[in-house]
Amino acid sequence: MTPTSPEALLAELEPTAARLLERHLSSSKEWFPHELVPWSVGEDFEPGYEWSADDVHLSAEVRSALFVNLLTEDNLPYYFRTIERMFSADSAWGVWARRWTAEEGRHSIVIRDYLTVTRAIDPVQLERARMAQVECGEVPEPETPLDGFAYVALQELATRIAHHNTGKLLDDKAGYEVMKKVASDENRHHLFYRDLVSAALEVDPSGMVRAIERQVRTFEMPGTGILDYDVHAKAIAKAAIYDFGIHHDQILAPVVLRHWGVEQLEGLDAEAAQARDALVKRIGRIGKAGRRFAARRDEQLASV
Ligand SMILES: [Fe+2]
Ligand SMILES: [Fe+2]
Repeated sequence: MTPTSPEALLAELEPTAARLLERHLSSSKEWFPHELVPWSVGEDFEPGYEWSADDVHLSAEVRSALFVNLLTEDNLPYYFRTIERMFSADSAWGVWARRWTAEEGRHSIVIRDYLTVTRAIDPVQLERARMAQVECGEVPEPETPLDGFAYVALQELATRIAHHNTGKLLDDKAGYEVMKKVASDENRHHLFYRDLVSAALEVDPSGMVRAIERQVRTFEMPGTGILDYDVHAKAIAKAAIYDFGIHHDQILAPVVLRHWGVEQLEGLDAEAAQARDALVKRIGRIGKAGRRFAARRDEQLASV
Protein backbone atom coordinates (compact mmCIF):
# COMPACT_ATOMS: atom_id res chain seq x y z
CA MET A 1 0.00 0.00 0.00
CA THR A 2 1.27 3.46 -0.85
CA PRO A 3 2.21 5.41 2.30
CA THR A 4 -0.30 8.18 2.85
CA SER A 5 1.88 10.68 4.76
CA PRO A 6 5.52 11.81 4.73
CA GLU A 7 5.96 10.19 8.16
CA ALA A 8 4.65 6.82 6.91
CA LEU A 9 6.89 7.02 3.84
CA LEU A 10 9.97 7.79 5.93
CA ALA A 11 9.12 4.95 8.34
CA GLU A 12 8.78 2.53 5.44
CA LEU A 13 12.09 3.61 3.92
CA GLU A 14 13.96 3.72 7.23
CA PRO A 15 15.44 0.17 6.89
CA THR A 16 16.71 1.16 3.43
CA ALA A 17 18.24 4.33 4.85
CA ALA A 18 19.90 2.22 7.58
CA ARG A 19 21.32 -0.17 4.99
CA LEU A 20 22.59 2.64 2.76
CA LEU A 21 24.10 4.40 5.76
CA GLU A 22 25.91 1.18 6.67
CA ARG A 23 27.20 0.87 3.10
CA HIS A 24 28.30 4.51 3.18
CA LEU A 25 30.19 4.09 6.45
CA SER A 26 31.92 0.91 5.36
CA SER A 27 33.06 2.51 2.09
CA SER A 28 34.33 5.71 3.80
CA LYS A 29 38.00 6.09 4.52
CA GLU A 30 39.00 8.65 7.12
CA TRP A 31 40.97 11.59 5.72
CA PHE A 32 42.46 14.77 7.10
CA PRO A 33 42.37 18.26 5.58
CA HIS A 34 45.76 19.18 7.08
CA GLU A 35 47.46 16.42 5.08
CA LEU A 36 46.23 17.81 1.76
CA VAL A 37 46.93 21.52 2.19
CA PRO A 38 50.29 22.75 0.79
CA TRP A 39 51.22 24.76 3.88
CA SER A 40 54.77 25.45 2.71
CA VAL A 41 53.57 27.82 -0.03
CA GLY A 42 51.81 29.97 2.57
CA GLU A 43 53.10 33.03 4.40
CA ASP A 44 51.75 35.65 6.78
CA PHE A 45 49.45 38.27 5.36
CA GLU A 46 50.94 41.72 5.93
CA PRO A 47 48.60 44.26 7.59
CA GLY A 48 46.57 45.99 4.88
CA TYR A 49 47.34 43.26 2.34
CA GLU A 50 45.49 43.81 -0.91
CA TRP A 51 44.87 40.83 -3.15
CA SER A 52 45.50 41.18 -6.87
CA ALA A 53 44.42 38.84 -9.67
CA ASP A 54 47.87 39.42 -11.21
CA ASP A 55 49.45 37.43 -8.39
CA VAL A 56 47.67 34.19 -9.26
CA HIS A 57 47.78 32.06 -12.37
CA LEU A 58 44.15 31.02 -12.37
CA SER A 59 41.52 32.23 -14.81
CA ALA A 60 38.55 34.25 -13.57
CA GLU A 61 36.33 31.27 -14.48
CA VAL A 62 38.23 28.85 -12.23
CA ARG A 63 38.22 31.42 -9.43
CA SER A 64 34.45 31.72 -9.85
CA ALA A 65 34.09 27.97 -9.48
CA LEU A 66 36.26 27.88 -6.33
CA PHE A 67 34.30 30.79 -4.89
CA VAL A 68 30.90 29.19 -5.50
CA ASN A 69 32.08 25.71 -4.46
CA LEU A 70 33.35 26.94 -1.13
CA LEU A 71 30.44 29.27 -0.33
CA THR A 72 28.06 26.39 -0.99
CA GLU A 73 29.92 24.27 1.56
CA ASP A 74 29.83 27.23 3.95
CA ASN A 75 26.05 27.28 3.80
CA LEU A 76 26.00 23.92 5.56
CA PRO A 77 24.01 25.05 8.64
CA TYR A 78 20.96 25.66 6.48
CA TYR A 79 21.31 22.50 4.44
CA PHE A 80 21.51 20.58 7.71
CA ARG A 81 18.42 22.35 9.03
CA THR A 82 16.44 21.48 5.90
CA ILE A 83 17.57 17.87 5.80
CA GLU A 84 16.96 17.23 9.48
CA ARG A 85 13.54 18.88 9.29
CA MET A 86 12.57 16.97 6.19
CA PHE A 87 13.86 13.50 7.13
CA SER A 88 13.70 13.70 10.99
CA ALA A 89 16.39 13.72 13.67
CA ASP A 90 15.59 10.18 14.80
CA SER A 91 16.61 6.69 13.70
CA ALA A 92 18.90 6.08 10.71
CA TRP A 93 17.66 9.34 9.16
CA GLY A 94 19.11 11.40 11.99
CA VAL A 95 22.36 9.42 12.11
CA TRP A 96 22.76 10.01 8.36
CA ALA A 97 22.01 13.73 8.57
CA ARG A 98 24.62 14.25 11.29
CA ARG A 99 27.27 12.10 9.62
CA TRP A 100 26.67 13.92 6.33
CA THR A 101 27.01 17.26 8.13
CA ALA A 102 30.34 16.25 9.64
CA GLU A 103 31.65 15.20 6.23
CA GLU A 104 30.46 18.37 4.49
CA GLY A 105 32.12 20.47 7.20
CA ARG A 106 35.44 18.88 6.28
CA HIS A 107 34.98 20.11 2.71
CA SER A 108 34.83 23.76 3.65
CA ILE A 109 37.82 23.34 5.98
CA VAL A 110 40.06 21.83 3.32
CA ILE A 111 39.00 24.15 0.47
CA ARG A 112 39.32 27.29 2.60
CA ASP A 113 42.75 26.29 3.95
CA TYR A 114 43.91 25.56 0.41
CA LEU A 115 42.65 28.92 -0.88
CA THR A 116 44.15 30.81 2.03
CA VAL A 117 47.65 29.43 1.67
CA THR A 118 47.70 29.66 -2.13
CA ARG A 119 45.98 33.11 -2.18
CA ALA A 120 44.01 31.93 -5.20
CA ILE A 121 41.05 34.10 -4.19
CA ASP A 122 40.79 37.50 -2.52
CA PRO A 123 40.43 36.52 1.16
CA VAL A 124 38.56 39.72 2.02
CA GLN A 125 36.00 39.29 -0.74
CA LEU A 126 35.60 35.63 0.18
CA GLU A 127 35.01 36.32 3.87
CA ARG A 128 32.54 39.11 3.14
CA ALA A 129 30.66 36.83 0.76
CA ARG A 130 30.60 34.06 3.37
CA MET A 131 29.18 36.44 5.96
CA ALA A 132 26.55 37.70 3.52
CA GLN A 133 25.54 34.23 2.44
CA VAL A 134 25.30 32.67 5.87
CA GLU A 135 23.42 35.72 7.19
CA CYS A 136 20.85 35.31 4.43
CA GLY A 137 20.55 31.54 4.98
CA GLU A 138 18.99 30.71 1.66
CA VAL A 139 18.95 27.09 0.44
CA PRO A 140 16.53 25.13 -1.74
CA GLU A 141 13.59 23.89 0.37
CA PRO A 142 12.01 20.86 -1.36
CA GLU A 143 8.36 20.55 -0.43
CA THR A 144 8.20 16.83 0.40
CA PRO A 145 10.71 14.12 1.42
CA LEU A 146 10.38 12.64 -2.09
CA ASP A 147 11.33 16.02 -3.59
CA GLY A 148 14.18 16.15 -1.13
CA PHE A 149 15.52 12.74 -2.21
CA ALA A 150 15.37 13.71 -5.88
CA TYR A 151 16.96 17.11 -5.38
CA VAL A 152 19.90 15.91 -3.30
CA ALA A 153 20.52 12.91 -5.54
CA LEU A 154 20.96 15.29 -8.48
CA GLN A 155 22.70 18.00 -6.51
CA GLU A 156 25.35 15.81 -4.87
CA LEU A 157 26.33 14.44 -8.28
CA ALA A 158 26.35 17.94 -9.79
CA THR A 159 28.61 19.08 -6.95
CA ARG A 160 30.90 16.11 -7.42
CA ILE A 161 31.31 16.92 -11.11
CA ALA A 162 31.87 20.64 -10.49
CA HIS A 163 34.50 19.97 -7.80
CA HIS A 164 36.31 17.44 -9.94
CA ASN A 165 36.32 19.62 -13.06
CA THR A 166 37.51 22.59 -11.01
CA GLY A 167 40.36 20.50 -9.65
CA LYS A 168 41.46 19.54 -13.15
CA LEU A 169 41.84 23.23 -14.04
CA LEU A 170 43.99 24.14 -11.05
CA ASP A 171 47.64 24.77 -11.70
CA ASP A 172 48.98 22.68 -8.85
CA LYS A 173 48.82 19.03 -7.87
CA ALA A 174 47.80 19.84 -4.28
CA GLY A 175 44.73 21.73 -5.47
CA TYR A 176 43.77 18.87 -7.73
CA GLU A 177 44.07 16.39 -4.86
CA VAL A 178 41.95 18.60 -2.57
CA MET A 179 39.11 18.84 -5.08
CA LYS A 180 39.35 15.17 -6.02
CA LYS A 181 39.05 14.11 -2.39
CA VAL A 182 36.02 16.34 -1.83
CA ALA A 183 34.46 15.11 -5.08
CA SER A 184 34.79 11.49 -3.98
CA ASP A 185 32.79 12.27 -0.80
CA GLU A 186 30.11 13.97 -2.89
CA ASN A 187 29.91 10.87 -5.03
CA ARG A 188 29.22 8.67 -2.03
CA HIS A 189 26.56 11.15 -0.85
CA HIS A 190 25.03 10.93 -4.31
CA LEU A 191 24.96 7.12 -4.18
CA PHE A 192 23.08 7.19 -0.87
CA TYR A 193 20.33 9.37 -2.31
CA ARG A 194 20.32 7.79 -5.75
CA ASP A 195 19.57 4.40 -4.24
CA LEU A 196 17.05 5.88 -1.83
CA VAL A 197 15.16 7.19 -4.86
CA SER A 198 15.25 3.70 -6.40
CA ALA A 199 13.70 2.31 -3.20
CA ALA A 200 11.09 5.11 -3.14
CA LEU A 201 10.19 4.29 -6.74
CA GLU A 202 9.11 0.86 -5.51
CA VAL A 203 7.21 2.12 -2.48
CA ASP A 204 5.44 5.06 -4.18
CA PRO A 205 6.26 5.10 -7.91
CA SER A 206 3.72 7.79 -8.83
CA GLY A 207 4.71 10.14 -6.01
CA MET A 208 8.41 9.64 -6.70
CA VAL A 209 8.08 10.27 -10.43
CA ARG A 210 6.12 13.47 -9.83
CA ALA A 211 8.85 14.62 -7.43
CA ILE A 212 11.64 13.82 -9.93
CA GLU A 213 9.77 15.77 -12.61
CA ARG A 214 9.37 18.81 -10.32
CA GLN A 215 12.99 18.72 -9.25
CA VAL A 216 14.40 18.36 -12.77
CA ARG A 217 12.12 21.18 -13.93
CA THR A 218 13.27 23.57 -11.20
CA PHE A 219 16.83 22.32 -10.68
CA GLU A 220 19.48 24.85 -9.85
CA MET A 221 23.01 24.23 -8.72
CA PRO A 222 23.43 24.85 -5.02
CA GLY A 223 24.71 28.37 -4.79
CA THR A 224 21.57 30.41 -5.10
CA GLY A 225 21.87 33.23 -2.62
CA ILE A 226 25.57 33.78 -3.36
CA LEU A 227 26.38 37.37 -4.35
CA ASP A 228 26.48 37.69 -8.16
CA TYR A 229 25.63 34.00 -8.49
CA ASP A 230 24.44 34.39 -12.10
CA VAL A 231 27.72 35.95 -13.17
CA HIS A 232 29.67 33.12 -11.57
CA ALA A 233 27.37 30.45 -13.04
CA LYS A 234 28.00 31.85 -16.53
CA ALA A 235 31.76 31.81 -15.94
CA ILE A 236 31.57 28.21 -14.66
CA ALA A 237 29.68 27.18 -17.82
CA LYS A 238 32.16 29.04 -20.03
CA ALA A 239 35.01 27.01 -18.55
CA ALA A 240 33.00 23.76 -19.05
CA ILE A 241 33.12 23.11 -15.32
CA TYR A 242 29.33 22.79 -15.20
CA ASP A 243 26.88 23.47 -18.00
CA PHE A 244 23.71 22.14 -19.62
CA GLY A 245 25.59 19.52 -21.63
CA ILE A 246 27.20 18.09 -18.49
CA HIS A 247 23.87 18.30 -16.67
CA HIS A 248 22.27 16.21 -19.39
CA ASP A 249 25.07 13.79 -20.27
CA GLN A 250 26.42 13.09 -16.79
CA ILE A 251 23.34 13.44 -14.60
CA LEU A 252 19.94 13.35 -16.29
CA ALA A 253 20.66 10.66 -18.89
CA PRO A 254 22.68 8.22 -16.75
CA VAL A 255 20.75 8.67 -13.49
CA VAL A 256 17.15 9.65 -14.33
CA LEU A 257 16.77 7.78 -17.59
CA ARG A 258 19.11 4.82 -17.21
CA HIS A 259 19.52 4.14 -13.50
CA TRP A 260 16.02 5.04 -12.33
CA GLY A 261 14.60 3.88 -15.66
CA VAL A 262 11.72 6.36 -15.56
CA GLU A 263 10.68 5.54 -19.12
CA GLN A 264 10.07 1.87 -18.27
CA LEU A 265 8.21 2.36 -14.97
CA GLU A 266 4.88 0.65 -14.69
CA GLY A 267 1.86 1.17 -12.49
CA LEU A 268 1.88 4.96 -12.58
CA ASP A 269 -1.35 6.89 -12.03
CA ALA A 270 -2.52 9.21 -14.80
CA GLU A 271 -0.94 12.33 -13.33
CA ALA A 272 2.41 10.58 -12.80
CA ALA A 273 2.36 9.15 -16.33
CA GLN A 274 1.86 12.68 -17.64
CA ALA A 275 4.68 13.97 -15.42
CA ARG A 276 6.95 11.19 -16.69
CA ASP A 277 6.26 12.12 -20.33
CA ALA A 278 6.94 15.79 -19.60
CA LEU A 279 10.14 14.82 -17.77
CA VAL A 280 11.46 12.72 -20.65
CA LYS A 281 10.71 15.53 -23.13
CA ARG A 282 12.39 18.09 -20.91
CA ILE A 283 15.52 15.94 -20.61
CA GLY A 284 15.63 15.74 -24.42
CA ARG A 285 15.37 19.54 -24.66
CA ILE A 286 18.10 20.06 -22.07
CA GLY A 287 20.35 17.71 -24.06
CA LYS A 288 19.76 19.72 -27.23
CA ALA A 289 20.37 23.02 -25.45
CA GLY A 290 23.58 21.58 -24.03
CA ARG A 291 24.87 20.56 -27.45
CA ARG A 292 24.03 24.01 -28.89
CA PHE A 293 25.77 25.74 -26.00
CA ALA A 294 28.90 23.58 -26.33
CA ALA A 295 29.06 24.16 -30.10
CA ARG A 296 28.83 27.95 -29.58
CA ARG A 297 31.50 27.84 -26.91
CA ASP A 298 33.81 25.83 -29.19
CA GLU A 299 33.26 28.34 -32.01
CA GLN A 300 34.04 31.24 -29.70
CA LEU A 301 37.18 29.55 -28.43
CA ALA A 302 38.29 28.80 -32.00
CA SER A 303 37.82 32.43 -33.00
CA VAL A 304 39.93 33.83 -30.14
FE1 LIG B 1 30.54 19.05 0.08
FE1 LIG C 1 27.90 16.20 -0.40
